[in-house]
Amino acid sequence: MGLNFVSRFIKIIFMAHFISRGLLPAKRHTQFRSPEGKLYSEELVSTEGFSSDYSILYHIHPPTQILSTDVPVAEKINIPEEKMLKHRSLEGFKLKPEDDYLDSRKPILVNRDVHISLAAPKNSLTNYFFKNADADELIFIHEGNGKLLTLYGELDFSYGDYIHIPRGTIYQIRFETETNRLFIVESFSPIRYPKKYVSRFGQLLEHSPYCERDMRTPEFKGPKDENGDFLVNIKKQGMLYGIHYAHHPFDVVGWDGCCYPYIFSIHNFEPITGRVHQPPPVHITFEGNNFVVCSFVPRMFDYHPLSIPVPYNHSNIDSDEVLYYVDGDLRIRKQVPRGMITLHPAGIPHGPHPGTVEKSLGAKETKELAVMVDSFHPLQLTDTALSIENPGYTTSWK
Ligand SMILES: [Fe+2]
Repeated sequence: MGLNFVSRFIKIIFMAHFISRGLLPAKRHTQFRSPEGKLYSEELVSTEGFSSDYSILYHIHPPTQILSTDVPVAEKINIPEEKMLKHRSLEGFKLKPEDDYLDSRKPILVNRDVHISLAAPKNSLTNYFFKNADADELIFIHEGNGKLLTLYGELDFSYGDYIHIPRGTIYQIRFETETNRLFIVESFSPIRYPKKYVSRFGQLLEHSPYCERDMRTPEFKGPKDENGDFLVNIKKQGMLYGIHYAHHPFDVVGWDGCCYPYIFSIHNFEPITGRVHQPPPVHITFEGNNFVVCSFVPRMFDYHPLSIPVPYNHSNIDSDEVLYYVDGDLRIRKQVPRGMITLHPAGIPHGPHPGTVEKSLGAKETKELAVMVDSFHPLQLTDTALSIENPGYTTSWK
């Protein structure tokens, strides 16, 4: 080993959210050479220009060596209804599985801040790489397990995992299962921990429902030093650009920083409960600009002697509510198949179905497991959403 770098094959978090993997020079932006004396190629992966979190990666080859480019392809999003004011319900598991990972991803609810998609990919993504240059991705694993492969390292995933993939991350996915059900949130702003749970220096606070130890970070496996023709499909402004590179994108000998993919399991979300019904913000898990992601997990119900376990009717006039039902027993609704989605738009109140309030009295706990996305601008339904819609939901309270 040379004198100007240190070996760090350890996997601890040095301070909140900053981690390092593999080989690094002692000082950034200085000469860093292989044992054969060849200069490694430094790449700064920054966010919000150069004004927010970043990571620095060291490649064996420059990450700029393009061999050729393909004809770009537009992402297909059709929005038959521009505007509407109705409660809607979709059956997510009616979405047909597809072989290819990218083909399988179907946007269902979209606005300018966030795209919500469902996917049921049958095959692993191995014959090309994917990079989303438009959006951070939050992939919730409802069914399936496997491994996410990235230039930062590998992450094993399984049922209940939220995989956060920052924009710009080149990745592949290997599924060990053929039946895979994913709920995907694409955010056009960085996905972050809720501000209320982060100290002014960046640590997750004591009252947060999770902490740094609950986050699984990439396992670094060393560089892939391979020459050839490596296709990276890059999503940018709703177009898919196939760009062929001369070297394997995972030729990284080391990296450090605060921008990297990680996993948080919904099963590690510690619910906040109270004597009377707690409002939805206690379930917030992630946030981006103009939306939040919440986790509803098994928990003890409210313990006031006259408490009502199911939520009150609510007219949250500034947010559309999307609830994705994962498992358990959702008491507020009459019938809930797994993978069902409800959209309760801003502008009209919603609440428990008839009979569910009385039925809930005296209940001590709930086994419900659900993911909610609240967006502060209206969402639009795509043609895929309409193809899996449950008719009659709008009037199901009568
Ligand atoms: Fe609600």
